[in-house]
Amino acid sequence: RAGRTPLIAGNWKMNLDHLQAVALVQKLHWSLKDAEHAADSVDVTVFPPFTDLRSVQTLVDADEIPFGVGAQDLSVHDSGAYTGEISGAFLAKLGCSSVIIGHSERREYHAEDDDVVAAKTRAALTHGLVPVICVGETAEDLEKHGASAVPIAQLEKALEPVASNAEIVVAYEPVWAIGSGQAATPEQAQDVCAKLRDVIREKMGDEAAASTRILYGGSVKSTNIATFMREPDIDGALVGGGSLKVDEFSSIIRFQK
Ligand code: G3P
Repeated sequence: RAGRTPLIAGNWKMNLDHLQAVALVQKLHWSLKDAEHAADSVDVTVFPPFTDLRSVQTLVDADEIPFGVGAQDLSVHDSGAYTGEISGAFLAKLGCSSVIIGHSERREYHAEDDDVVAAKTRAALTHGLVPVICVGETAEDLEKHGASAVPIAQLEKALEPVASNAEIVVAYEPVWAIGSGQAATPEQAQDVCAKLRDVIREKMGDEAAASTRILYGGSVKSTNIATFMREPDIDGALVGGGSLKVDEFSSIIRFQK
């Protein structure tokens, strides 16, 4: 496991073609270099669309850019007659280190339920990819059940196929906070993340609970990142909109607690 080095992850969603992707990664790298950012103080991973992965990975390799590259989804299958699907084997071959699973946009627009999320988690681990398992409550869930019940249930299910020594990342993304400009408060996010760490402890044991990174996602910006990073159970951020702008993402990566 990578331990709990802070992880700032950029989920580009369906934005940036491969030329724009290469330009953004180059500019981001230069921006961090200019700011003399110490690359080993924070892990950075970008999650471009599938069609950008090859170009981004080639650039990262060629210029020794210290970013991880991950995919936004994968198939539950390894290969076969599944038109349009991308397998974990292909992603691993491209040099991807991780893959987002169960993002609320997949759950909502592609009807991915907890069984699919568990199957995708298993597929990722089979191919040596770190699953970044996303959980979070909708505004309606929040009203009916409070903040933590739904994310806890989602994580319990996702961890069913996971061995205690597996490396995973958990991302707590309250759906109402995604793209809304209305982030959770650090206290709310900490409360849920602490409970998610308890789920990891129950399902995977003490060592996993102590060394697994839990990220907060939902309207993270350069102006609020430090407040989240001060919380004991928040080890990083999964950033959407803020990861598409070089200066903003560079500032988020360079957060000071
Ligand atoms: O996966 C990251 C995401 O859902 C958060 O998006 O735009 O609120 O940072 P955003």
